[in-house]
Amino acid sequence: MEHRDVGTVAGLRHGIKPGLGLEDSIRERSANMLNTLLADEYVLYTKARKYHWNVTGPMFNDLHKFFEDLYTELNDIIDEVAERAQFLGGYSLGTLSEFMNAARIEEDPGQYPEAKEMVSSLLEGYESLIRNIRSETSREDHHTDVGTMHFLAEILQKHEKSAWMLRTLLMDWKIN
Ligand SMILES: [Fe+2]
Repeated sequence: MEHRDVGTVAGLRHGIKPGLGLEDSIRERSANMLNTLLADEYVLYTKARKYHWNVTGPMFNDLHKFFEDLYTELNDIIDEVAERAQFLGGYSLGTLSEFMNAARIEEDPGQYPEAKEMVSSLLEGYESLIRNIRSETSREDHHTDVGTMHFLAEILQKHEKSAWMLRTLLMDWKIN
């Protein structure tokens, strides 16, 4: 068993040199970035599940189902992000404590927000993911890893759609 002290990222596997035409430094940067994204996606996924379980009020049925749609999509994205780190010869974070160390999105332990606040909090999470992905994909030094850039652009679009749905729910919200 190989043991690695991980900080907030997982790094590259030793002894594997994928012939992808990418410098090790680019692979490492991409793998680390993907792991940070993975951690954020995992925290947001968990938050959507928490809200799916705990939402109350007149919109219970709609929101209960909507939050399930969100976390189901996030679950698929999580798998794709973790596997993409492997394609590049990296490790993938896979423990809750690693996710918590690496994530930039914050949890709300002990809190059970009202429905509207749940929607706002998820929107904030999606928008912060979108901003982070956009800033990663606009880095000049990163463009040789076109596979990862394209992959991120697809995730960005999925998150933009979810953010739009959440934002739209908040318009003219009259129910508490
Ligand atoms: Fe459920």
